[in-house]
Amino acid sequence: MFAEALSRLPPQPAETQVGEYRQRQSLLTDQLRENDVLVLASPRHAVRSNDVGYPYRTSSDLIYLTGWLESETTYVLRHTSDGWKSCLFVQAKDTLKEIWEGRRPGVEGALSAYAIDEAYSNEELEERLLVWMNDAKRVFHRGGTNTALDSLVESAVRRRDRARQQFGTGPVAVEDPSGLLAELRLRKSTSEIDQLVYASKVASLAHELAMRHSRKGITEYQLQGVIEGFFAYAGTAGWSYPSIVGCGENATILHYKTNSDVCGDDEVILIDAGAEYRGYASDITRSWPISGTFTEAQKEIYEVVLDAQLAGIEACQVGNPYTAPHEAARRVMAEGLIRLGVISQTVEEALDLETGELKRWYMHNTSHWIGLDVHDVGVYKPGGEPRLLEPGMCLTVEPGLYFGAWRPDVKCPKRYANIGIRIEDDILITDDGPVILTDDCPKTIEEIEAIVGNGP
Ligand code: GLY
Ligand code: MN
Ligand code: MN
Repeated sequence: MFAEALSRLPPQPAETQVGEYRQRQSLLTDQLRENDVLVLASPRHAVRSNDVGYPYRTSSDLIYLTGWLESETTYVLRHTSDGWKSCLFVQAKDTLKEIWEGRRPGVEGALSAYAIDEAYSNEELEERLLVWMNDAKRVFHRGGTNTALDSLVESAVRRRDRARQQFGTGPVAVEDPSGLLAELRLRKSTSEIDQLVYASKVASLAHELAMRHSRKGITEYQLQGVIEGFFAYAGTAGWSYPSIVGCGENATILHYKTNSDVCGDDEVILIDAGAEYRGYASDITRSWPISGTFTEAQKEIYEVVLDAQLAGIEACQVGNPYTAPHEAARRVMAEGLIRLGVISQTVEEALDLETGELKRWYMHNTSHWIGLDVHDVGVYKPGGEPRLLEPGMCLTVEPGLYFGAWRPDVKCPKRYANIGIRIEDDILITDDGPVILTDDCPKTIEEIEAIVGNGP
């Protein structure tokens, strides 16, 4: 089942080149002053229980600047008489540890294959960093990732030693670099887009396989297994966020993750699942009838959401505010629900954020940035105004309608009881209009009905 799907994938893209990481570092240092030091720590390992940890994944900022994925790492950018230096502090090689835990690139590995000028073992971090910080006026550092590093930065600022009093040396400000990095990460390079395309193609095929595997008596966790099994089979790191696989009333719970029920033959399943490839996320939602044929009622809702999603995608044009897809999708859904008799207000009334009825059935946003994080970084409203879309930005378009008959706060229309439908694609903004990165994933009613249940 997986081998045939794999044969439909393109080859994995080339890795991002060292030169591009250098370029990203330069774009950052262009915004720094010569007496600044920037320090980024990798997150610590998280314990799951007792001796077992959660799978490790380093910070997206570290991946963005260096491509270095190892834990126990500190990255430093500092200025010398020779220009800016890109430095990594890493775990030194240690044969006994490597026998147990896996190979380590070590200092030599960091210097040989990464966009790094200097590499040191972690044992040298404290001494070197204190000297560098003492020569700096501002330290760019975001606390909360590594408490030992936080203390080191704090002590560099707090020091009241002779040199500081005599010569006024030492940092006087700590600033958060995440805003600078977020602004860079918001616009994707060709190489980043290549990684996103692969993550999107894998997730598209995984959804198709789950559609093909749907049948009477199937469970949510079995469909989750198909999806996540293919993520692994296709060479990705696995999911980019825990898969949401909900049938029937579970489809009306936006972030349902229990995935433990048997699917009813007359129910719609909603699967929101994406793969992570070289750190880059995909994020797809599809909804389909387990039986392979939409009931009239399911079809009515599906068509409204699909029309809304297509209108949202069409609004993903250079120069439009990032809110344009949301506004377009909401309007189409308000019109659709009025047509179906679910909403008894006018369109403008239905859209009102306080009193409109649309939000009973559509209660989330339509878009978020996507990249190294599934909910990627980037200020949505710089200066309070919605960001205008630019080529290279990537965002999702994901309207949905959720008729939870279990909800005590609203009276669910009987005809649509426990229908939950969301349709989500990942979009690249270009001068030639929106590019749907997840376009391989079946979406129209005809495509879905032809595929569901029709497979290995
Ligand atoms: N999968 C989470 C989201 O769609 O935002
Ligand atoms: Mn999403
Ligand atoms: Mn999603």
